[in-house]
Amino acid sequence: MFKFILPVLLLIASCLDSAASQTRRFPDDFRWGVGSSSYQIEGGWNADGKGESIWDFLTHNYPEKIADKLNGDISADSYHQWKRDVQMVKELHAGTYRFSLSWTRIMPGGYKNNVSTAGIEYYSNLIDELLRYNITPMVTIYHWDMPQRLQELGGWTNPEIIPVFKDYARLVLEMFGDRVKTWTTINEPLHVCECGYGLDYMAPSYNYPGIPSYLCGHNVLKAHAEVVHMYRELFQSQQGGRIGITMDTSWMEPKDVTSTEDREASERALQFYLGWFAHPIFSKEGNYPKVMIERIRNLSKEQGFGDRSRLPEFTAEEIQRIRGTADFFGINSYTTKLVYSNGHNNTGKFPVPSFNHDMGAVETQKGVDWPSSGSSWLKVYPRGMYNLLMWIHREYNPPRILVTENGVSDRGGLEDYARVDYYNLYLSAVLDAIEDGVNVKGYMAWSLMDSYEWKVGFSEKFGLYHVDFNSPNRTRTPKVSALVMAQIYKTNTIDWSYRPKLNEEQLVALAQLSTENQQPKTSGASGAVSWSLTGLLLLALLR
Ligand SMILES: *[C@@H]1O[C@H](CO)[C@@H](O)[C@H](O)[C@H]1NC(C)=O
Ligand SMILES: *[C@@H]1O[C@H](CO)[C@@H](O)[C@H](O)[C@H]1NC(C)=O
Ligand SMILES: *[C@@H]1O[C@H](CO)[C@@H](O)[C@H](O)[C@H]1NC(C)=O
Ligand SMILES: *[C@@H]1O[C@H](CO)[C@@H](O)[C@H](O)[C@H]1NC(C)=O
Repeated sequence: MFKFILPVLLLIASCLDSAASQTRRFPDDFRWGVGSSSYQIEGGWNADGKGESIWDFLTHNYPEKIADKLNGDISADSYHQWKRDVQMVKELHAGTYRFSLSWTRIMPGGYKNNVSTAGIEYYSNLIDELLRYNITPMVTIYHWDMPQRLQELGGWTNPEIIPVFKDYARLVLEMFGDRVKTWTTINEPLHVCECGYGLDYMAPSYNYPGIPSYLCGHNVLKAHAEVVHMYRELFQSQQGGRIGITMDTSWMEPKDVTSTEDREASERALQFYLGWFAHPIFSKEGNYPKVMIERIRNLSKEQGFGDRSRLPEFTAEEIQRIRGTADFFGINSYTTKLVYSNGHNNTGKFPVPSFNHDMGAVETQKGVDWPSSGSSWLKVYPRGMYNLLMWIHREYNPPRILVTENGVSDRGGLEDYARVDYYNLYLSAVLDAIEDGVNVKGYMAWSLMDSYEWKVGFSEKFGLYHVDFNSPNRTRTPKVSALVMAQIYKTNTIDWSYRPKLNEEQLVALAQLSTENQQPKTSGASGAVSWSLTGLLLLALLR
């Protein structure tokens, strides 16, 4: 028995030793931030005349679709606790706070005929408070909470949304553009369109595969482009800010890298997931990726749709109008999938027609030994972040990439050493990409605090700050990861030897939480230790 344990201990010790001496520095002008989104944290769902969004509608009418049947009516109550939120961003030494505006807090019915002064004031105060502490606001105009009244007209599938979204964007650019210098039009169009319309995964939960998600994508791209042109024509020269879009994908690793078929499936999956929105905006030639256009046209024809592809076509003029409409490339990524081709004849796995069938690629995480997290879909494979950034660099060579979301979930607790490891590992991967020539200019951790996580309710936690959802004022307490991120952000340096213990504030909060029996069960200290060793071993293997 000892014969076996000793070499393992020695291996661990040597890894600890080499990791401990490992500090790595980011470029001096690197931009650090932390993110949140309106529906996930604000609460105040009908406060001061706020209108109903598709998430209010979904959670109120179909609570059975939410893992814990709960909703974001109050959530972390940032509608009232925003000053504390700003304090937390400050404590983290984050230079940027990325948050989103709730459309129906500003325009209760979605249209400009009815503007809520209370809504404008809320965001205006938040922005002023951030600026008071020298924190740069980075504002997402749309992060999934479509006005329910506009959804009743078809939401993003109705081209009417383009001028209406533009009206909303114009108002917020007029109201806040004097103080906000970084704008994102739309967060994760893939999730908006495929997960909201193609699947039953996100509001509005159409679960209608193969057709409406492409209409959605078409209108999202046009609406995005119109807002960017408006910003450039009317606001950018006076206000001097930047505007872009944030897209998302997992890294798509070929299941068997030696297989041409798997490598092609991986490339196809990246073109469908990311290229769908990135290619029209960031490529030299514009338009959807060729492989998407051809496959969906061919399959539509085979399926009896005739010459009208389910993927709508842009006119030459529209292609030009959309191309180049971003000052930065925003990317959200959390994990990696293994990908293989859906057989030679693309049958069996997926509904026909559907986005996944059009893509003809199957994703899995079976058989990998990557550490798991609080979310079934999220496994820890930092090399995937490096590969994804390299792919974006090769494909589009954008001069300015911002990692606008990256982080990991657990099921609760303040001693989140697994999250500490995740951040150290993923930031190392980002730095590897920078050192290999990728223009990553900033990184925003997801997320500032435990939040309402959409269809999984409050069961999965991504926060650097713990939120006590049972306390009247939603008390926030820094987790260990918050202390580590504060150190990274302050020093521009990852330092594996920096492993703080809980401070006074955290110990008091922890005691309070456990006496009130509110502390969710976690893997506990031994879990955390084995986790952190896994992280160190992974790091040692990667370098
Ligand atoms: C404007 O919105 C408020 C708050 O939702 C609502 O009470 C009011 O009836 C709306 N007014 C119009 C003209 O739609
Ligand atoms: C689409 O069909 C055309 C004509 O049959 C064929 O040449 C082409 O390879 C197909 N493209 C794809 C991506 O399947
Ligand atoms: C298509 O693939 C399925 C599953 O791999 C197989 O059972 C079937 O025989 C194939 N059909 C054709 C026409 O190749
Ligand atoms: C609310 O928060 C304040 C600190 O901001 C704290 O002193 C107070 O005890 C909290 N109240 C409750 C009921 O938790």
